[in-house]
Amino acid sequence: MNNRKMRAFMSTLMLATAMTMAPLNAAGNPVVAATATLARPWMDTSLSAEARTDLLLREMTVDEKKTLVYGYFGSPFKERNYAPPAGVRMGSAGYIPGIERLGIPAQWQTDAGLGVATQRDSTEPMRERTSLPAGIATVATWNPALARQGGAMIGKEARLSGFNVMLAGGVNLVREPRNGRNFEYGAEDPLLAGIMVGAQISGIQSNNIISTIKHYALNAQETGRFVLSANIDEAGARMSDLLAFEIAMERSNPGSVMCAYNRYNGDYACENDFLLNKVLKGDWGYKGYVMSDWGAVHSTAKAANNGLDQESGYIFDKEMFFGADLLGKALADGSVPMARLDDMNRRILRALFDHGVMDNPVAVEDHKIDYAAHAKITRADAEEGIVLLKNQGGLLPLAAGASKIAVIGGYADKGVMSGGGSSTVFGRGGNPVPGLGPKNFPGPIVFHANPPLAAIQARAGGNVAFDTGTDPTAAAKLAADSDLAIVFVNQWTGEAMDFALTLPDNQDALVAAVAKANKRTIVVVQSGGPVFMPWLKEVGAVLAAWYPGSAGGEAIARVIYGEVDASGRLPVTFPASLDQLPRPKLDGEGLPDGTKFDVSYGEGAAVGYKWFDQKGYKPLFAFGYGLSYTRFAYKDLKASVGTDGTLTLSGSVTNIGERAGKAVPQLYVGPATGGWEAPKRLAGWQKLELASGASSRFTVPVDARLLATFDVAKNEWVVKPGRYKVWLGASATDLPVTTEVTLKGGRFSAVKAN
Ligand code: GLC
Repeated sequence: MNNRKMRAFMSTLMLATAMTMAPLNAAGNPVVAATATLARPWMDTSLSAEARTDLLLREMTVDEKKTLVYGYFGSPFKERNYAPPAGVRMGSAGYIPGIERLGIPAQWQTDAGLGVATQRDSTEPMRERTSLPAGIATVATWNPALARQGGAMIGKEARLSGFNVMLAGGVNLVREPRNGRNFEYGAEDPLLAGIMVGAQISGIQSNNIISTIKHYALNAQETGRFVLSANIDEAGARMSDLLAFEIAMERSNPGSVMCAYNRYNGDYACENDFLLNKVLKGDWGYKGYVMSDWGAVHSTAKAANNGLDQESGYIFDKEMFFGADLLGKALADGSVPMARLDDMNRRILRALFDHGVMDNPVAVEDHKIDYAAHAKITRADAEEGIVLLKNQGGLLPLAAGASKIAVIGGYADKGVMSGGGSSTVFGRGGNPVPGLGPKNFPGPIVFHANPPLAAIQARAGGNVAFDTGTDPTAAAKLAADSDLAIVFVNQWTGEAMDFALTLPDNQDALVAAVAKANKRTIVVVQSGGPVFMPWLKEVGAVLAAWYPGSAGGEAIARVIYGEVDASGRLPVTFPASLDQLPRPKLDGEGLPDGTKFDVSYGEGAAVGYKWFDQKGYKPLFAFGYGLSYTRFAYKDLKASVGTDGTLTLSGSVTNIGERAGKAVPQLYVGPATGGWEAPKRLAGWQKLELASGASSRFTVPVDARLLATFDVAKNEWVVKPGRYKVWLGASATDLPVTTEVTLKGGRFSAVKAN
């Protein structure tokens, strides 16, 4: 027996001895005495994650190391005649068995960023859990504290459902308004996306579980996602999508990064040396592990050597690239050095130690979930993410009590819509609108049983009638006989698909007919992102409610009745037409499945409002836009430069309206003489609750990268010396207060000091 095996035998013997003598605790589990720590020195919590990892890694055999670098799908996969192994949480996304001999727990992986999702092919009942509103709704709150709180809630439900890895953290910039997964992501701006998604990841990981951040990188459309090459210049990527990841990761230290399906400048993201080794692990010094997306691995040696650490859901790949055979061969022929296998394991183990997974074993204890408390959390998030886009003549908020109200369409009598695909959380009480949408993935369309109709009826004093909206004439008649009409329109979106911005199912005609019959028409849009509104001029008010989650009906009613201010602000630009987009025609549309194609992101870092500024286009609604039920004035904008060159902006906002409300003062900055990808960039913001007449001052230090361009040749950020303009206001196109400041300029490396 070689000395490694001898050591393994001895440590097991010592542990076994310690355990047999250990007293039992109240729960009947053996209290592992201190001696056991000696037997497993890596369980000494006084040591660093690095030290504990080294102690554990040296105990592992090569075969054991091979078991940690690939995962199983946690649900049946009929097309491949696959059944998950014992030990999985049925209906889950993934599972990596543990190593009992060494006390390494299994890794139970659940989707996703909205809550504990269940795979559709589960052979057991759906896990019914609390759903946050769509990621884009959380970002639309511009409230990091809410994002963190929501993350903490879904992370707790994940832990109590027996999961220690949550596949959340969708931070891809919204480059393509038609992208079917925009609802899972959040913003077109790297600062807003990075801060908001970073906050959610921190919340999730506060439960001693690992969160991912995904999908790294440039996974900006679903059409051809498995094969397309996202092509972009490095400087443009560094100042946009990569910056969103960088900011989010600095703020949340996600245990794992999920590499994307698509190619990036020709190479698949999960075997892309530039993305994984040069930027992520090199420049950014990332110590966690890179897991693949499910079906995103295309090689053994190339993927391993270019930075992939764990193959997820291997059954979705053409081969088991990191399975014992192929990886074993690569190790044997030296195409994958043993040191790389060690590093893959080191990264995984370190994350398990760093995020408390090793010291806090999970168990299935879903009976402990406090759903009532969690409903309040998802409702708070949803209502602060609802954006009031139009409110003619102060039609909203409605006064409680006697109005004859027509509520029309959108299955508002049954529930609220959610997005499709792997992130779908099946809500408690089941799907109140079964049988809609695609039979297979990413369908069916799932609603949450929290009907807006009931929430409105509870406030309207009983004079509310509902019409399904399937017949615009009938709906218009009901509207004509009512004091006002509330029309719900739905645009379902989902993973693996992209969607037109035009509302489906004749809903535009429905809204036009109702608005013609009654000018006091309020439209509530449930969508995964921007939509066109040909009826906008005809209606009195419009709310963007996104997919509002498990308490969405209540959230919508609370905003409509002014129980809370309308305080959401758009995290994405709503275009007036497709012609305003960098790519009016969606690349890859209509190509046979599997046909490779390129998407050239020639706009580089000029994403969203930056593109519109650069081109001088007027959007339907601007980035950062959203009305409140009160009004705010902005003043006293100041820009100061510290001795260390840091730019700090400050200003004040006053509630000049009659009622309390929440302001989102936004600060933008840009070089007075141009030279960037666009005239300005978001430099910071605050979310402030203000009573009528109250004022508040706020101060925002500006991240130097937001003042810089990226010098690829020198791998440095460069702040050009000179005059810079600063704006303060309510959206990217409503910036009444300006000032200027001189920056000394400077350079700093893209390589983070460890
Ligand atoms: C999906 C998604 C990814 C998800 C994973 C597991 O295809 O791209 O976001 O976490 O597979 O379901």
